[in-house]
Amino acid sequence: MSVSIRRHDEIALVIIDNPPVNATSQAVRQGLLDAVEKINADPAVKAGVIGCAGKTFIAGGDIREFGKPPLLPHLPDVLQAIEDSGKPLVAAIHGTALGGGLETALACHARVMAADALVGLPEVKLGLVPGAGGTQRLPRLVGMLPALDLVASGRQVKAQEALSLGLVDVVVSGDVFEAARAQARKLIGKDLRRAGRLEVPACDQVAFAAARAQVDKKARGQIAPGVAAGLVAAASALPFAEGIARERKTFFELMRSDQSRALRYVFAAEREVARVARLEGVAPRPVEKVGVIGAGTMGAGIAVALVDGGYDVRVVETSAAAVDAGVQRIEGLWARPLKSGKLTQAQFDQKRARAYVSADFSALADCDLIIEAAFEDMAVKQDIFSRLGALARPGAVLATNTSALDVNAIAAFSGRAADVIGLHFFSPAHVMRLVEVVEGGRSSADAVATGVAVAKRLKKLPVVCGVCDGFVGNRMLAVWRPVAEMFLEAGALPQDVDGALEAYGFAMGPFAVSDLAGLDIAWARRKRLAATRDPNERYASTVADRLCDLGRFGQKTGAGWYVYPDGKRTIDPVVSELVEKVSAEKGFARKTSPAEDIQRLVRAAMINEGAKILSEGIVGRALDVDMVLVHGYGYPAWRGGPMFEADAIGLECILADIEALRAFAGPAYEPAALIQQLADSGGTFGELAPGEAAPKNSLVESLR
Ligand code: 3HC
Repeated sequence: MSVSIRRHDEIALVIIDNPPVNATSQAVRQGLLDAVEKINADPAVKAGVIGCAGKTFIAGGDIREFGKPPLLPHLPDVLQAIEDSGKPLVAAIHGTALGGGLETALACHARVMAADALVGLPEVKLGLVPGAGGTQRLPRLVGMLPALDLVASGRQVKAQEALSLGLVDVVVSGDVFEAARAQARKLIGKDLRRAGRLEVPACDQVAFAAARAQVDKKARGQIAPGVAAGLVAAASALPFAEGIARERKTFFELMRSDQSRALRYVFAAEREVARVARLEGVAPRPVEKVGVIGAGTMGAGIAVALVDGGYDVRVVETSAAAVDAGVQRIEGLWARPLKSGKLTQAQFDQKRARAYVSADFSALADCDLIIEAAFEDMAVKQDIFSRLGALARPGAVLATNTSALDVNAIAAFSGRAADVIGLHFFSPAHVMRLVEVVEGGRSSADAVATGVAVAKRLKKLPVVCGVCDGFVGNRMLAVWRPVAEMFLEAGALPQDVDGALEAYGFAMGPFAVSDLAGLDIAWARRKRLAATRDPNERYASTVADRLCDLGRFGQKTGAGWYVYPDGKRTIDPVVSELVEKVSAEKGFARKTSPAEDIQRLVRAAMINEGAKILSEGIVGRALDVDMVLVHGYGYPAWRGGPMFEADAIGLECILADIEALRAFAGPAYEPAALIQQLADSGGTFGELAPGEAAPKNSLVESLR
């Protein structure tokens, strides 16, 4: 039974029990409607409380029903029945009341919220707008500007903010059901506050227009936030019933949109990515104490992520001075939340106490997992892993955070390769969700499962992949970055390429990112690979090399592809001249490239390399590639990721783009056989079974 009614006295308790998150599936909607009717028909009942079993209040409409023909009763009608109830109904909110869940609560006559609960309307994150009155009831309860913010951002609100906004009536630390019952009792016989019948509070129109403009700017091509803002505006312009009808129509239109399909795919892929068939039933090794080697930018970020995830952390550095600098770096990462009040001094002190930084390598001896985040140099790794092989306790997992070196070679230095994996975090490591969990040729399954389990405990997204140069993300970057540089040689300037890709939806274009990350890292890699580079391969990084020769390493030196007076990215004529000079030296007749060409060919390069990564069995599923690009490289989530987008566009068209890319960028961009094959057979990346694209005996062959 999804919805049941319990009654001890004059207050009926309506309990929704629909695991895992009490979504408003058809049975719940019907059960709620029946419950409201029963409460109103029963003279012994004077009021009702609506709450949920399990860990959360209703977390939204049932995503599994989306895209299918809607089944009766519709949620807006159920909520209208709640709002119109002759007897008071109070929502008892615990866990997360999201989307249709918060909308259910808004239709009630009062809301009681547990102090640790969260509420929000996250529909825009699925490319949708609230579809059951959220855009119409919320402005009536909290005002136009706060409603605009909540609906267009989809952000989750904590209890104290919800209370001060007027979104909930009571916040309690104790039993939320008991408090809701008390609240319901107070409402018996009173005039009920029905959100849909309230006047929308007056609002400063200029401020509202400015806030809407901000929403459009932030959306970077995503449709839903602007549409949601328009519906909030409609709340003050239309009668409630008309606003609801418009909202509902818009909800279904967006449900059919490519953007919503892509975002729903990302939602599912984020949950699927950590489920690797081969690791099913493999118990991760227990981990409580984690060692981190190196307290530089990466090491400090990893240490902070681990402490935030509840681990005890031992960080080791090589000297007293490096220990001091490391401590400062680690404390610095918590300083911001401390200053903003997100962290209390007591919490800061507790966290600080869990990160022990020293120059004593033997402090790692009893750690369950040790993550090396030292300098990217094979000799350094050799020294560390041979020492770890002898020092770490038996059964400890040894991980390298290398982004470029061979995990198998590093594992061999330890003398216990079965314990060794890669854990490739992305910078800033305490913020970025992506972690590539690299499975070496001899890594044991439980060591890999441990990497996945630790990443999950850190609330990160683990993508299990095999060993290759750059793993998934950096390998793809190494292929499409040169295409961006080739557009410079062909006639574009850095701001043209960045502009084209930012218009595509990337948070930052590649040259702006390079300035942020530092040009020196890629420069060092190019120098390292110079000796083995195919002389017939087209080399496109001459401008980048010249910038590095000039000491322009990006933002940290105040100049790179751009200059940064007052910290603001600014076009530098020196760079424009340099680009033109290099073009001339190489004999290119410069001509401008339409933004669409830049977007298409860069995307083609990504998809082509993604297909090669799949065919080599480096990852098992197209969604693994998409998660790396969306969560590590700013690929717009509303496009789903390159492999999802390739399927949506059609592989025949993508193949044509790759042919155009080869004509533009040279024979290194030969179309992947897998794309040709799928284009011929009418298949898609998404339909491939895990590991299906990979050769026999490859790493992911066994994933099937
Ligand atoms: N419908 C169906 N299933 C859902 C769901 C939903 N709305 N939300 C989560 N689930 C499923 C997940 O797919 C997952 O299933 P799985 O174990 O088979 O993969 C399971 O519930 C647990 O989810 P999480 O792994 O995400 O668990 P967490 O505890 O980390 O997070 C959560 C819980 C905060 C509720 C998170 O799942 C979440 O944010 N869910 C989406 C909420 C949302 O977007 N709601 C709005 C939906 S649109 C809507 O309501 C339309 C309305 O306006 C008409």
